[in-house]
Amino acid sequence: MTQSTAWDRETFTHLTDFREVEEVFRRGRDFVIGGSKAGSDEFVHGTLVATDGREHLARRRSLMKMISADQPWGAEGTLLDEVFARNLRRVVDITEAHDNNTHFDLIDLGRRVIWRVTAAFVGLDDIDDPAQVERFQELVEPVLEGLTLEYQPQERHAEIIESARRSRATIREEMFDPSLRRRQDLIRAARQDDGNTDDLPADLITSMLSQGGDEPDIEIIFREMVALLAAAVNNPVSQMAWALDDLTAWLDTHPEDRAKLGEKEFLGRAVKETMRLHRSSRPHVVRIAVKDTELETTGRKIAQGTWLSLWLQAANRDTAVFGEDADRYNPYRVPSDPKVQPFGVGLGGGPHVCLGRPLLLWDQGDEDAQGLLVKLLRFLLANGVRPDRDGVQREGGPEGGRRHSRYDVVMPLTAADSPCP
Ligand code: HEM
Repeated sequence: MTQSTAWDRETFTHLTDFREVEEVFRRGRDFVIGGSKAGSDEFVHGTLVATDGREHLARRRSLMKMISADQPWGAEGTLLDEVFARNLRRVVDITEAHDNNTHFDLIDLGRRVIWRVTAAFVGLDDIDDPAQVERFQELVEPVLEGLTLEYQPQERHAEIIESARRSRATIREEMFDPSLRRRQDLIRAARQDDGNTDDLPADLITSMLSQGGDEPDIEIIFREMVALLAAAVNNPVSQMAWALDDLTAWLDTHPEDRAKLGEKEFLGRAVKETMRLHRSSRPHVVRIAVKDTELETTGRKIAQGTWLSLWLQAANRDTAVFGEDADRYNPYRVPSDPKVQPFGVGLGGGPHVCLGRPLLLWDQGDEDAQGLLVKLLRFLLANGVRPDRDGVQREGGPEGGRRHSRYDVVMPLTAADSPCP
């Protein structure tokens, strides 16, 4: 099958009906991702977000250990707890208090926390102090734009590609290569020792190196790492701000739920409902039909080669599945179809479903084993953090992909004196 090499938005078929979007995700053999990243191909070629079929499945399998709950960054680990406490302490130390309250920008705090944790699970070392995290952000941001080139205005493409190439080369030299060398040494030592590499860290670089045979393809490891950074660093930060925004407004009218704020089950409902309601990055994702076909759910006919644009937030607000008040927040919402997740297609679906799901949401295990989204919300609430109504909450982005660039919050200093989760 021949695939287009550039996006022609005029020819897209736009899907907003939940059942259709879910079906296209699910039928990953008939609706593929390959070929839809033409503009950013030089950055993503051969990675999870640009492959299908066996190659794609094998890569996902190679990263299973990285996303398991018992990793330091997983639901049973404590890395997030430590990084959050450290960063909240920093906020208290550097911010001038007023009336026994600390006022700060939640987006800045969230970015420092999430970027640090993400660096750990991709396998980048030495990203610990605030200056290193800032350097990491400064270098990665331009690369992220390059990875989503198709979504950027055509007139900026040349500039974005140029800047992405430059930053990418620096990340490789300054951050990736030293981390890679350390892991190559570790693997070599483990193999010489007793041949057992099971106890090595399960970050992306180590996982792909140790499973890559005698001559692992370093360029593909680097590319996958950068693609994973793109997938992982921004969404959790925006979701955290939306979660606090949604839940604090809900509590104003449902004060009885305050008693449940420490409960994993209630907080799980809350963050899933936020995820359903707010998509905070690219508002649509793209698939290409590999053959003439018909959608089972609605009978819509789709010709081979059709580009489908799946609008996630619109699908997640489909009243047929989520009720007449689907555009409002209600943590007790139950979709009309029991097979539908409370967060709808917020994490995609089918073979390309979000790889980070077990890190983000973790319903299994005991009360302390919590996904990152639940933990973040719990830490904020436990420290008394609430929106600063006299501050700035600045929202931007396209409809269906809106997020805060700044979200001012206020925290009582009595809690901040010991900012522990
Ligand atoms: C709240 C935060 C997040 C949201 C809302 C989110 C959402 C999504 C969605 C909708 C997709 C499907 C895209 C498509 O089908 O084209 C996806 C894919 C992906 N996500 Fe996430 N994501 C989040 C966080 C993360 C994190 C923390 C990771 C880190 C492991 C991650 C890794 C990935 C990867 C690697 C893919 C591509 C999977 C594949 O193509 O096989 N995401 N995510």
